[in-house]
Amino acid sequence: MDIRKEYLEFFKSKGHDIVSSMPLVPDDPTLMFTNAGMVQFKDIFTGSVPRPENPRATSCQLCVRAGGKHNDLENVGYTARHHTLFEMLGNFSFGDYFKEDAIAYAWEFITVNLALPIEKLWVTVHENDDEAFNIWTKYIDSTRIIRFGDKDNFWAMGDTGACGPCSEIFYDQGDEHFNGPEDYMGGDGDRFLEIWNLVFMQYERSADGKLNPLPKPSIDTGMGLERVIAIKEGVLNNFDSSNFKPIIEKIETLASKKATKENIGSYRVIADHLRATSFMLSQGILFGNEGRPYVLRRILRRAVRHGYLIGFRKPFMAQLLNTLINIMGGHYSELVENKNFIKEQLTLEEDRFFKTIDLGMSLFNEELANTKDIFSGQIAFKLYDTYGFPLDLTEDMLRDKDLKVEIAKFDELMNAQKAMAKAAWKGSGDASNDGDFKQLIEKYGINKFVGYDNVTYKSKILALLNENFKEVSTLEKNSTGWVMLDKTPFYATSGGQSGDIGALEDNKHIGIIEDTQKFHGLNLSKIKVANSNLNQNQTVDAVVVNRYEIAKHHSATHLLQSALKMVLGDSVSQAGSLNDSSRLRFDFTYPKAMTTAQIDEVEDLVNTMISRGISGNIEELPIEEAKHKGAIAMFGEKYGDMVRVVSFSDVSVEFCGGTHVKNTADIGSFYVVKESGVSAGVRRIEAVCGAAAIAYTKEIIAAMNEIKAEIKNNDVISGIKKLKEQIKELKKEVETVQSQTSAPISEETIGDTKIVVAVVENGDLKKIVDDLKNANEKLAVLLLQAKDDKVLIVAGSKNTNIKAGEWIKNIAPIVGGGGGGRPDFAQAGGKDVTKVEDAKIAALTYAKENL
Ligand code: ALA
Repeated sequence: MDIRKEYLEFFKSKGHDIVSSMPLVPDDPTLMFTNAGMVQFKDIFTGSVPRPENPRATSCQLCVRAGGKHNDLENVGYTARHHTLFEMLGNFSFGDYFKEDAIAYAWEFITVNLALPIEKLWVTVHENDDEAFNIWTKYIDSTRIIRFGDKDNFWAMGDTGACGPCSEIFYDQGDEHFNGPEDYMGGDGDRFLEIWNLVFMQYERSADGKLNPLPKPSIDTGMGLERVIAIKEGVLNNFDSSNFKPIIEKIETLASKKATKENIGSYRVIADHLRATSFMLSQGILFGNEGRPYVLRRILRRAVRHGYLIGFRKPFMAQLLNTLINIMGGHYSELVENKNFIKEQLTLEEDRFFKTIDLGMSLFNEELANTKDIFSGQIAFKLYDTYGFPLDLTEDMLRDKDLKVEIAKFDELMNAQKAMAKAAWKGSGDASNDGDFKQLIEKYGINKFVGYDNVTYKSKILALLNENFKEVSTLEKNSTGWVMLDKTPFYATSGGQSGDIGALEDNKHIGIIEDTQKFHGLNLSKIKVANSNLNQNQTVDAVVVNRYEIAKHHSATHLLQSALKMVLGDSVSQAGSLNDSSRLRFDFTYPKAMTTAQIDEVEDLVNTMISRGISGNIEELPIEEAKHKGAIAMFGEKYGDMVRVVSFSDVSVEFCGGTHVKNTADIGSFYVVKESGVSAGVRRIEAVCGAAAIAYTKEIIAAMNEIKAEIKNNDVISGIKKLKEQIKELKKEVETVQSQTSAPISEETIGDTKIVVAVVENGDLKKIVDDLKNANEKLAVLLLQAKDDKVLIVAGSKNTNIKAGEWIKNIAPIVGGGGGGRPDFAQAGGKDVTKVEDAKIAALTYAKENL
């Protein structure tokens, strides 16, 4: 039986619309992941967005409970029923049916469609919910209806939002299988398995913790698909069902090791985490160090650590993906479409972590050598925190040594870290304004965006808000606030395109629009009011000023994506983008830096697409038809049944809600300004086009002119070459001077006369003699230099009795030469370089004797 299908069809037959699973990343900063089927309907429950035409819906929702309010991560592998990612079947009533029907439907499905034996079923209700209790007595003996308090029977999505008492249905797996101390109704054991939760949505919890009644009581239910499959297949553990078993067997094959009672937990962890990581990656969540990317990293690392325990030393997860696709790919095409990307990302991250594991092992072994009685809690925490070793891995490694971890210290550090992490996550959302937006929607409805076809529009001001989003009837002159127009040409930031700026006019200038954003579907523009007050209900001309330049960048982004696929291959996919009037930024998956030649090729391709003048075409299509046309969808984006498709002939076809040029020629030109890495496996291209491209080239030309002026040459290249030559020569000169000054010159002073006699290896002897004469009042100097096979001697005298000419005549014969000169200056040459030192000694003796 295909339980997923059976469930959806059952509720369809009861008048429900089947809706698809929403992305794992909710459009809600207060929520880490989509953790229940109701998340996509949360604003409908609270009434902050209108109810759909049909107030009944049913879905099979992928959920992640590995961070945030509902977190099962640490349980996975150790119980038979917890998962980080699971599928929740649900039926929802938005102010339509309530407890009576919800219970009747659940009972019918369980006892008829699933045909579970009634004697194995138990239910729970909230301790104060007599109504639910009484309804249940129609179906089941009252001894099997148990009342529990808020802890078990009150359900809430997060700290704020819709919530209410709930009633859960349990399946007794029998005391012949489970008879531990925890195996009683309400205990933590696996005997009584909760399979379905019916939430009677009655309240909305505000940020101050208060419970406010919902406009209409509603129903939210959640049935765990994995658990029901296991029950129907007659196995006592989800991991033994057909959903997981093939993955576990594949792990056994890869590890060349059958799972044992002791290590089966590791196999289960890997199987579970393979599902969570693969789906998260397929929906565009990437590995990182904070928020959701960090949770993804922890899950993968937990899987790898367990892989390490059973003997893996190299990445292995990617080799399990085909098995997962065989099980789930039929229903979730994103797994199949992104298969290569998932494999590549898993392997990169595993590779990195396997390296860290080895480092962690060295730390572990070092500490082990110093451990006598108990292994340091601080090191165990460091292993956990820095090297990603879970406590159980460390404990496992200590087991054969008969050692234990100092748990109290570990827990203390862990708790401190948890408190910090919680504080960091909290406050990232701004739920406090929800109520105000809800009121605005109730009063005025959702305002319409008319900017696809207009950049100016006569609009009416429906509402004004001050900077704190409180509604006001007037915004004072020179103040800043937000304006809600009945129909607005201003595009609100979304899909990577930044919000429009512009002005409100009315014969005179009213104010500047500084930004436009969406709040719960409302399109609001931030305004800086000019010199007169701005009033509600006023009619204004709304003027967008930056639209064309933004459109150029957005269209160029589409062309860029297609050029990247042509040059780097089809596995390139978008990982984020930003388009504003002065630049575009496009992040995409690719494992290494692009070469200059690849960047050039991409740039040329985009410019060719621009110069071909390809007309743009925008159409609304049924999603299947759009997919059929090959339209590229953005990772993790939720699309309705009808989608907007932007195409430039067959060069680029994408799902997109943004604003675009009518013809690629409008883009003008396109330059890549930078290519860089964002995270492992993700590259970023920054580029400019349109007016920004002109500004960019002008900047380069201006810089070039400045360079020409600086180097005094219009031919920049030959100018630079010359400069380089000059630098080379100057370097040589510097070397010579350095060697001159560093040449050891010995000197002696007798009375007030300086005597310098030295052998100088490099440098101009005449110049050195002149310099010395200039520097000294009384001086006798004789320098010798041996070059090749000749000796050069230069002598000088200033205010002494020594005559340079005589002196040199005496010395030159020692080196086989002759010469002479004036009393103050003389030079000579010689041929015997081996006698230079002798000549030096003789010259010194002569000087002393004749001074
Ligand atoms: N939202 C309810 C749950 O997750 C059904 O248990």
